[in-house]
Amino acid sequence: ITIRRATIRDVQAMQNANLLNLPENYQLKYYMYHILSWPQTSFVATTYDVDEPEDESSEKDVVDQLAEVNLAGFTTVDSAEIDPKGDSAYINKGEKIVGYVLGKMEDDPDAEDKIPHGHITSLAVMRTYRRMGLAEKLMKQLLYAMCEVFKARYVSLHVRKSNRAALHLYRDSLTFEVTSIEKCYYQDDEDAYAMKKVFKLEE
Ligand code: ACO
Repeated sequence: ITIRRATIRDVQAMQNANLLNLPENYQLKYYMYHILSWPQTSFVATTYDVDEPEDESSEKDVVDQLAEVNLAGFTTVDSAEIDPKGDSAYINKGEKIVGYVLGKMEDDPDAEDKIPHGHITSLAVMRTYRRMGLAEKLMKQLLYAMCEVFKARYVSLHVRKSNRAALHLYRDSLTFEVTSIEKCYYQDDEDAYAMKKVFKLEE
């Protein structure tokens, strides 16, 4: 399994992975916005499936969709097709995404907090690849990039109160702290923990 920066060619597979693993989903243009704006802060974990025949269509699909997005001026497109096998998201030629992390820098000019900081938009690892340390590795790559490239002073995220696995990962493995509880943050009214990791100067 390889961990590498996500590129624009990965967005469809990342969206598929997100749809398979989380109820919080985003339009393809939101993935593109992340990767075009902050190419250093999103990562994928990929592997090659030896049984999978070379897939010549998927690359073409992404290129077609990119053309569609460009023509549409980033206004349309939400055409994810979930992988029928239900456990992978193919990019091309048998390479499949088994995990991803999508990160951004705070870019709201009206934000009260002018300190440069990052935000984790979404993280997921495919079910059969969990508990292998992939999420921790993806997160560490992202945290390092946010510090090194964008001089982030801290990074924030939201996580469902009921999400034990993610909470353990953030709090115990990555030393995030809960800063507040945001009531009814999610569409189904579940509360979120707002979490934050402040970078020490030498980190
Ligand atoms: N139960 C308890 N702790 C867990 C669990 C679990 N099931 N899974 C991971 N952890 C914690 C542990 O502290 C673990 O360290 P340890 O193995 O040394 O005990 C640590 O996380 C690192 O585990 P990883 O193997 O790196 O985590 P994994 O690759 O399995 O991915 C993830 C964890 C991303 C939460 C995965 O379970 C998943 O994709 N879940 C569904 C999607 C999701 O909940 N994403 C996060 C939403 S919040 C957001 O996106 C900002």
